[in-house]
Amino acid sequence: MCGIVGIVGHSQVTSLILTTLKRLEYRGYDSAGVATIEHGELARRRAEGKLINLERRLKEEPLDGTIGIGHTRWATHGVPNETNAHPHFSDGVAIVHNGIIENFAELRDELVRDGYAFSSQTDTEVVAHLVARELAKGLKPVEAAHQALKRLEGAFALAIMFKGDEDLIVGARNGPPLAVGHGDGEMFLGSDAIALAPFTNSITYLEDGDWAVVRRDSVAIFDIDGKKVERKRQQSLSTSFMVDKGNRRHFMEKEIHEQPEVISHTLAHYVDFVSGVSKPLDLPFDFAKIGRLAISACGTAYLAGLIGKYWFERYARLPVDIDVASEFRYREMPLSANDAAFFISQSGETADTLASLRYCRKAGMKIGAVVNVRESTMARESDVVLPTLAGPEIGVASTKAFTCQLSVLASLAVRAGVARGVISQEQEKTLVRALSEAPRYANQVLKLEEQIERIARELSRYKDVLYLGRDTNFPLAMEGALKLKEISYIHAEGYAAGELKHGPIALIDENMPVIVIAPHDRIFEKTVSNMQEVAARGGKIILITDSKGAAQVSVKTMETIILPDVPEIISPIIYALPIQMLAYFAAVFMGTDVDQPRNLAKSVTVE
Ligand code: F6R
Repeated sequence: MCGIVGIVGHSQVTSLILTTLKRLEYRGYDSAGVATIEHGELARRRAEGKLINLERRLKEEPLDGTIGIGHTRWATHGVPNETNAHPHFSDGVAIVHNGIIENFAELRDELVRDGYAFSSQTDTEVVAHLVARELAKGLKPVEAAHQALKRLEGAFALAIMFKGDEDLIVGARNGPPLAVGHGDGEMFLGSDAIALAPFTNSITYLEDGDWAVVRRDSVAIFDIDGKKVERKRQQSLSTSFMVDKGNRRHFMEKEIHEQPEVISHTLAHYVDFVSGVSKPLDLPFDFAKIGRLAISACGTAYLAGLIGKYWFERYARLPVDIDVASEFRYREMPLSANDAAFFISQSGETADTLASLRYCRKAGMKIGAVVNVRESTMARESDVVLPTLAGPEIGVASTKAFTCQLSVLASLAVRAGVARGVISQEQEKTLVRALSEAPRYANQVLKLEEQIERIARELSRYKDVLYLGRDTNFPLAMEGALKLKEISYIHAEGYAAGELKHGPIALIDENMPVIVIAPHDRIFEKTVSNMQEVAARGGKIILITDSKGAAQVSVKTMETIILPDVPEIISPIIYALPIQMLAYFAAVFMGTDVDQPRNLAKSVTVE
């Protein structure tokens, strides 16, 4: 999942391409590159690592040209070095690519047999050679690109530029998103509308199988058979303002602190805090009539869905099937057109989740997309968009999007409970009142920063950490472990507390801190028993609980973080904050790249 851009401009484009790449860096930061046509020749600058390295390179060796393509890479095929950085060239053809060419090995063999030499280990280079081979046969650039595209299998978004034609970029989409931006005497291509927002808000999204001939004053879109197709031109809502860190050290820190506000915005979209009822929502299905709900998502969004399962089953007696999206469509579960499916995604572009969405659509299910990016592919392909109003999330580790996803799911579970006659109107009022208190409690938790920072400093001395929890705190334990490992690189696992004795207990010793998430709820005592098991084996316990839990716990802990006593329904939202803060501060102490941890990217558009 890389970011790609193309500009057929009326002035120098290199700095414009850099502007768009900055807005696409969330898609990958293993390397970056830009190519233009300079004095009639294809020319490029590429650099390993973050965009800043490319910027430095361009300062030393500027690049002229009024047409250009750019790329920011998340490595799939080939290590992240300059040789594998895009754009890739072949005899008058320059290419940038996002995605995976699945039949690249076969194509590569064929091209090698035809005498093409490969200089990189990427799958992308086959596309450059394929187009060049069509040109060598005498085809004109547009037709050469079309013939090459026909040979490609897999998921790709491409921008192709040709020596000798300074008024042409061919774009193609099959899977990952690609948007055409309409300017005034200039035309743009980009992986998303946000990238193009500084230049235009007039956007046409390509659909799967589309390819586009982009010129300074026109764009023509075709399907794979070469038939011209019409695609809607729309006004994008993306803003041209770059989100900044404010006075925070990292985006992640800023985003953690934004949570009281964005949770409040999100909840207010679904429930009326004053009257204590759900707000009208145009759902394409009736919660009372569906037999089950399927939820599918990846990573942190999946863990939000897992908590949602507890809520829908508890408050609405609605059975939920939940899967990580990469497993969902391959395990051949029976699907019913009478049921609904929810897909949860911050970006709305995650390839596995999108593929699951399409799989359910084929089965005739009604589709709801819980997304943060309203113009994303998932939003466009769903029957109903269920927005999280988190605002742009820049830190690669998801924080505010997660608590907003939880806010959406909790409010929908209450709505479903009322629709299914499980929750009375009086109970609905109580639950909505509880939801409305989440922002206030979140604010209180943020004030525990000093203590959490101190504990995180201690945690950063260890190599392994175990997170335990029961009920909704089990998925939260997994989220705590995920957050910790992805940004601090400390190995961490999240387990259901009751599962400890079935294996993981073998790991417990004084070198393995155990973080237990245990508000004083119905099963608090059971979790305390599991803590006893840890303590008896010399394990060091960090307990996250409330004042009642702290008063009643009979086990010696290394540290206890005491959160406010909160209503059960909002507990996962509030308990998410200390685990995010622990991971954040541990990463700061470890000196890692908090906002852009190694090997990761914000939007994963490959399977
Ligand atoms: C972890 C994290 C990832 C994402 C996952 C899905 O902090 O951010 O696990 O949650 O890659 O991404 P989206 O939500 O964009 O589908």
